[in-house]
Amino acid sequence: MKLPQQIDSLWLDGHLATMADPNGCGIIENGAIAVENGHIAWIGPRTQLPDDAHQRAKRVHRLKGGWVTPGLIDCHTHLVYAGDRAKEFEMRLAGASYQEIARAGGGILSTVQAVRAASEDELFAQSLPRIKAMMAGGVTTLEIKSGYGLDLPNELKMLKVIRRLGQALPIDVQATFLGAHALPPEYENAPDDYIDLVVSQMMPQVAEQRLAGAVDVFCEKIGFTTAQTERVFKRATELGLRVKLHAEQLSDSKGALLAARYDALSVDHLEYLDPDDVSALAKKGCVAVLLPGAFYFLNETRRPPTAALRRAGVPMAVSTDCNPGTSPCLSLATMMNMSCVLFGLTPAEALAGATRNAAAALGLGQRIGTLEHGKAADLAVWEIGSPAALSYQLGGSPLRCLVKRGDVCHGV
Ligand code: NIG
Ligand code: FE
Repeated sequence: MKLPQQIDSLWLDGHLATMADPNGCGIIENGAIAVENGHIAWIGPRTQLPDDAHQRAKRVHRLKGGWVTPGLIDCHTHLVYAGDRAKEFEMRLAGASYQEIARAGGGILSTVQAVRAASEDELFAQSLPRIKAMMAGGVTTLEIKSGYGLDLPNELKMLKVIRRLGQALPIDVQATFLGAHALPPEYENAPDDYIDLVVSQMMPQVAEQRLAGAVDVFCEKIGFTTAQTERVFKRATELGLRVKLHAEQLSDSKGALLAARYDALSVDHLEYLDPDDVSALAKKGCVAVLLPGAFYFLNETRRPPTAALRRAGVPMAVSTDCNPGTSPCLSLATMMNMSCVLFGLTPAEALAGATRNAAAALGLGQRIGTLEHGKAADLAVWEIGSPAALSYQLGGSPLRCLVKRGDVCHGV
């Protein structure tokens, strides 16, 4: 790695958690980063930086003892929605279960009503402050799913809002099509007919208009069966879309095994994953996305088999699952804390889960997720004493500034 003659910016006087070491944080104390054309052109200990580095840089940023990590990546959200579900929160606190509320026509379907009633502009306006809150917590890339429209025009409306959010903000937004999220009221008792609509009308439109890069399904007793899920996966493969899955959240439907057969980018939730099924994920390099916010908010007791996942070498990501029903959460750092306290991850694993492994869950592992030569200069600069402090603090954010492809886009 040679420092180029001309660089756009130089970051000095701080410490780096590169996350480039699969077994830790890849720490470089007193490190330096040179950025050219939005990418990391040089990274290493300050002592190895050529003496005339200052003269080659158009701009020098002083980190003043702060820490730099890769910009955080939230790889599983339902952040575009209308309304809220505070009423259902009260019902659950009074004893009703998530499944009972869903079967009575509430749950996901109550958000579907609100989303269908909202115009594209209203949906955009309600979602924008949520992404801004995510950015204030260090997020430079996030995934957002459709799945509250459940008919062609409203699914397309959601995906267009997702695209507009990515255009309006200086961060990357990846869209996932989740048409098979719940059965819409028009198809009551006819789930296979609804899947016909998803695969024959919705998915070709989504692919043609390039509105999503992946598809997801809620594979669950209150969602869709593995056979229905497989129909969606087959169509996705034909259309060149990657797959991922809400799997084993409330019961063991063997969705994760099915997803692995279709080379899924990730399988998400996994509280009821059978530890015997872990090796199939390892073989395919499929990422296990842990969503401790939903586990906490639904007051679940069954934990995902994180020890078995670790032993098998399955990469574990951590995400907010930001949604109005099971995880109304806008703080990825809070989820990192919960992944440690509730699921037994180490703070280093939690940080890898919100950077390197989250990038892999989006199929972006070659471009983002670690601080390495050639990767995008997506940086989060923190006022912390060590990387573990990111998983330790509850509430607020020690973020000092956020850098997207070399440009400071939040904070100073
Ligand atoms: O990831 N499980 C399905 N989907 C969401 C919940 C969506 C909702 O309740 O609105 C989840 O938990
Ligand atoms: Fe989800």
